[in-house]
Amino acid sequence: MRVGRYIAITVGASALLVSGVAPAAAGTLPTSGTAAGAASQAGHDQKQVPLRKVAPKGFAIGVAVAGGGHHLDQEYPDPFKYDEEYRGVLAKHFNSVTPENHLKWDFVHPERNKYRFGPADAIVRFAQQNGQKVRGHTLLWHSQNPDWLTKGKFSRKELRNILKEHITKVVGRYRGKIDQWDVANEIFDDNGKLRTKENIWLKTFGPSIIADAFRWAHQADPKAKLFFNDYGAEGINKRSDAYLKLMKKLRKQGVPVHGFGVQGHLSLNYPFPSDMAKNLKRFSDAGFEVAVTEVDVRIPLNGGDASEGHLKKQADYYRRALEACLSVKRCNSFTLWGPTDKYSWVPVFFPDEGEATIFNDDFSPKPAYFALQETLAKARRR
Ligand code: XIL
Repeated sequence: MRVGRYIAITVGASALLVSGVAPAAAGTLPTSGTAAGAASQAGHDQKQVPLRKVAPKGFAIGVAVAGGGHHLDQEYPDPFKYDEEYRGVLAKHFNSVTPENHLKWDFVHPERNKYRFGPADAIVRFAQQNGQKVRGHTLLWHSQNPDWLTKGKFSRKELRNILKEHITKVVGRYRGKIDQWDVANEIFDDNGKLRTKENIWLKTFGPSIIADAFRWAHQADPKAKLFFNDYGAEGINKRSDAYLKLMKKLRKQGVPVHGFGVQGHLSLNYPFPSDMAKNLKRFSDAGFEVAVTEVDVRIPLNGGDASEGHLKKQADYYRRALEACLSVKRCNSFTLWGPTDKYSWVPVFFPDEGEATIFNDDFSPKPAYFALQETLAKARRR
């Protein structure tokens, strides 16, 4: 069951909606025909206040914007272009956006001499219209690279120039408009070893290319904050250890490295990483910015629907992840990897899991939504 279990009363939403967002999205979210009793039993017959309105001042509560990647193989039309209700939710609840795929190499640079900036431009425009920040994702990664790049025959010199040109062009285009860039994504494996086999850049050049990438990005936009980003790095482990060590080393060498992003793709199949706050704090204490960049919490479904118990546990994971970030001085940004189950990547990539986001398919809020709302409001009052 994915729809309307919880009564939603929306207040104060319309003030946030400006051009580009359909008025239909401004009103009350669907309450559907559910019994009010079910909602109050679960304790969620409370007001639904936009997350960005209850967030502490200066705190970025973000969301990925659908498009490209797995979306291209789905039956629905491009959500960002055609789903007005979806656009309304993006504008209403979030003050930061991340293009989910539009700035990855295969999407933005499909041929050697061809860039496709239109869709990312549209997201940046939307963000400006709605007073939102933008996170850029990503410039150096082992995945979602175009064939012309991975299968092409290039000399080392050519390949280095290709990366330099790409970074200069993409970061330069959004100079002053993108606040944080995930320059390098997923460069370490579970053992804290560099991915020198899968990552074309690390394979060809070794670790020195990482410093180059950060320097080129910094030249293209000196004000943007430059990040490393990875999954499975929420807690203290070999992977997060490797990042902390590398980041300190690079900074000593004068490389412009500013922050660490933990993705936060969590699953109820695993315990919550209870040392998350401690891990984020050690990066913050070392003077780095911290961001939680791609949160979702997968529920094991095995073909069925999530139970009340699942949804409660999921809300708890969301709450704890947000609390971990809010408890850390330099953690100022918390981004969900999509607002709604309707377009989530999870069922496509994890076939036995799903319902990983905070809104049902019909945009009615799940317990996880209220967990975030309460946690933000509490932090704001502190
Ligand atoms: C995912 C997207 O959500 C999908 O649309 C796409 O098909 C594959 O990539 N870590 C990341 C993100 O850094 O870029 C990934 O996004 C999810 C895992």
